[in-house]
Amino acid sequence: MKIAVLPGDGIGPEIVAEALKVLEVLRGEGVAIETETAPIGGAGYDTARQPLPPATLALAQKADAILLGAVGGPQYDALPRALRPEQGILGIRKALGLFANLRPAFLYPELADSSSLKPEIVAGLDLLIVRELTGDIYFGQPRGRRVNAGGETEGFDTMLYSEREIARIARVGFEAAMKRSRRLCSVDKANVLDTSILWREVVTGMAADYPEVALTHMYVDNAAMQLVRNPKQFDVIVTGNLFGDILSDEASMLVGSIGMLPSASLDAANKGLYEPIHGSAPDIAGQRKANPLATILSLAMMFRHTFERADVAGRVEQAVRKVLRQGLRTGDIAASGQAGVSTNAMGDAVVAALQH
Ligand code: IPM
Ligand code: MG
Repeated sequence: MKIAVLPGDGIGPEIVAEALKVLEVLRGEGVAIETETAPIGGAGYDTARQPLPPATLALAQKADAILLGAVGGPQYDALPRALRPEQGILGIRKALGLFANLRPAFLYPELADSSSLKPEIVAGLDLLIVRELTGDIYFGQPRGRRVNAGGETEGFDTMLYSEREIARIARVGFEAAMKRSRRLCSVDKANVLDTSILWREVVTGMAADYPEVALTHMYVDNAAMQLVRNPKQFDVIVTGNLFGDILSDEASMLVGSIGMLPSASLDAANKGLYEPIHGSAPDIAGQRKANPLATILSLAMMFRHTFERADVAGRVEQAVRKVLRQGLRTGDIAASGQAGVSTNAMGDAVVAALQH
């Protein structure tokens, strides 16, 4: 198993280092893993003047799976869009055809008090957002700037989905629902957008293939509201790229901290890129404060989805539960007023839990 490791920027290298410690334990147990590291995002720009250097893309292409930290930082904010760190991650998603983004939001009972919502609203929460990742307004053409008839500059983007793109992500949603509680909620804005009207038609048309799945539809504004009103009504949510970006950040707060949420971005053959859903947090970079658990849990997802080693994934997840039960907390999940342990201490505790 060959893993391309792309630490990226900000806290990326720190959290990835902790996940690599976990990998090291697994390797010691005989799991055959090779890793190779390459720069992406701002680190790509610094070394090769490109957010996605060709050598990094080539490494990712030949790897079986990719582990990514995070990209971005204020020092790159003034760069033209094509050179910004975000283009590294968007470029790799597109080039590798990683259209299916799985973002689970699972509340560890130990963290019920870290949620900004009342414990009874979030207790037992376990939902999965299936976000389309290579289409929509993120990639639709045309886009850019132009001067309108009145001489004023306009910026514009194109929201665009083909039937084929909608059908393949909807299928991922239906299949995921089949493996869970068989409830699928498709989120769109079909009361306003043509893209969404097509989305709803295609998803509805596929429901006959999955008679056991209870399919519902919801407008995205309502979904945003329902997520904080009664999040347990959801099992699997399937949605487009932009809506999924926003709803998954919102969902992360339900479970205590964005520092807890892993993700998988899969192609049609389940090759995948695994990353925490949080960003590069430049404000705390280098301070050993970041929570490495989302990255470690992303590694667990890698073993489950790409390497088909649910046993290994389960052990890593159990190790994370164990350290939470032991009371270890980084600052983001610590009770208010408490300092929280360092990134390294958290990683070391997971390693220890895995070994015992
Ligand atoms: C995410 C991030 C990315 C996105 C950025 C970094 C391009 O917010 O993975 O959710 O918008 O998809
Ligand atoms: Mg996002």
